[in-house]
Amino acid sequence: MAQLTRIGVYTSGGDAPGMNACIRAVTRRALVAGLKVIGIRRGYAGMISGEFAEMGRQSVSNILQTGGTILKSGRSTEFRTKAGRLQAAKNLRNAGINALVAIGGDGTLHGATLLAEEHGFAVVGCPGTIDNDLYGTDESIGFDTAINTALDSIDKIRDTADAHERLFLIEVMGRDSGFIALACGIGAGAELIVVPEQLEDIESIKDRLAELMSEKHRSSIVVIAEGPSLNGAQTIAQALPRDERFQDLDLRVTVLGHVQRGGAPTARDRVLATRLGVAAVESLIEGHSNVMVGVVDGKIKRTPIAEVWSRRKSIDQTTLELARMVN
Ligand code: F6P
Repeated sequence: MAQLTRIGVYTSGGDAPGMNACIRAVTRRALVAGLKVIGIRRGYAGMISGEFAEMGRQSVSNILQTGGTILKSGRSTEFRTKAGRLQAAKNLRNAGINALVAIGGDGTLHGATLLAEEHGFAVVGCPGTIDNDLYGTDESIGFDTAINTALDSIDKIRDTADAHERLFLIEVMGRDSGFIALACGIGAGAELIVVPEQLEDIESIKDRLAELMSEKHRSSIVVIAEGPSLNGAQTIAQALPRDERFQDLDLRVTVLGHVQRGGAPTARDRVLATRLGVAAVESLIEGHSNVMVGVVDGKIKRTPIAEVWSRRKSIDQTTLELARMVN
């Protein structure tokens, strides 16, 4: 690999609270090592259009506590083509960048692997997604903030559920994984949690809801992970009135949506993002690339990026069991 002199840093895919804290950590750690840092705006799209700006200590002041990403983000279709990636690689070389820190989810890391494999860049990934679905880290940047935001909303809905003796179906994000739903469901004491990892058909969900009703629950909260498996809360809601067991049910659906992606990062996310940003730069300095840095059992761990996006992080069965026992 060419000598490490300039690191490009970018965020891509869904924004996650704590991405700014990570950009700050990458920038400051690299500057301490005497390296130049180039911020790439709008993720892979900005790489293709050459939207680069040198980052100084001051350019990352006062961003630690903010949500979103100062570098902007996006999902680029052009980068999915070889021609798009070739253009991105040319622009990076022209800007003197030979190493990259990619902050994002599995799509971002997949893109980084392609840059490494096809064009020889040294890349290190930082897991940044509220979904927490990346293999190789116990938690990803943004997850803690997202679950606290969702929990705050669910607690508020509980007041109405209780006052009106209603059943609420609350849909949370997570793409095709249930980490957000499980954490929020446990935290909110949801009477039922529906996650794709434990695929249930609509009939078994209806049976469990009927059971809940017969236990004289005057109000109930069901937390449902979005995703392809059951098509979310609306589909379940539409199936209930057709069943005579639910004729008297007072039912409402709330889809929390993008509120879960915004807001100031929690202390936990700020610390995690700072640790990971620093670890990413140190990894490049030590000559370890094509890896994602994560935190496993409290310690920084490097996992080959190809392994991260090819393996599936699974929900801990004990946690699922725990929810079933106490909720
Ligand atoms: O990956 C983060 C996430 O918020 C998912 O939970 C959700 O399915 C998706 O992004 C939504 O993406 P978009 O903001 O592009 O609609």
